[in-house]
Amino acid sequence: MDVEQAVIERRSVRNYLPDKPVPKEIVGKILDIARYAPSSGNLQNWKVILVSDHAMKEELANAALKQKWITMAPLLLVVCNSVGDVKRLYKERGEFLYSIQNVSAFVQNILLTAHSIGLGTCWIGAFDPEAVKRVLRIPDDVEPEAIISIGYAAEEFDAPSRKTIEQFCFFDIWGSSEKGFGPLPLQEHMGAVGEVSKKGKSFFSRIFKK
Ligand SMILES: Cc1cc2nc3c(=O)[nH]c(=O)nc-3n(C[C@H](O)[C@H](O)[C@H](O)COP(=O)(O)O)c2cc1C
Repeated sequence: MDVEQAVIERRSVRNYLPDKPVPKEIVGKILDIARYAPSSGNLQNWKVILVSDHAMKEELANAALKQKWITMAPLLLVVCNSVGDVKRLYKERGEFLYSIQNVSAFVQNILLTAHSIGLGTCWIGAFDPEAVKRVLRIPDDVEPEAIISIGYAAEEFDAPSRKTIEQFCFFDIWGSSEKGFGPLPLQEHMGAVGEVSKKGKSFFSRIFKK
């Protein structure tokens, strides 16, 4: 599966096939690919705790504002931000921006790679970090940034609607739109991957020609 298709087709999966664990080699492959994410100064400040024990998954689900469906996933990846080096090198901006962006790029790589090899995931951010730290014995200077549930999807999901390009894109200065310019309404093309690509390319070549 190419990147374009993975990006468009990936969905948050909250319902997993029971009794179908994710083979260790596949988890290894996903992490092996995800580690090529960009990071400020190439510091790669992510750490991952793999949780498959049911009792621990229950504790994490409780920490995640009682999102009980989380326990259904055969595996949880708790992705942490080991902020130390990024903070030392880039000070405040490193601590409060780069370190989180680095981990987020890594998380997105996991989601896309997992999808491309037939697995469902969900990025879970609604949790009490202190509770997660207690359950997993995460040290004080490390922050859990995301829990990723991962497993084989039990159902297919429709894509939640997306903003159109014209809703988030300006020309030259903030707030300006180009008259007569009709960027693609992305949701009309969901499922027509090639079509999105073709139109997306002409959209961007038009911007950068200026
Ligand atoms: C930072 C972040 C936190 C999220 N937290 C949760 C969460 O706690 N629980 C949940 O079910 N989904 C969570 N999601 C998933 C979003 O709800 C989902 O990505 C969004 O509705 C778009 O749907 P899609 O992923 O299927 O395209 C989170 C996503 C992100 C990026």
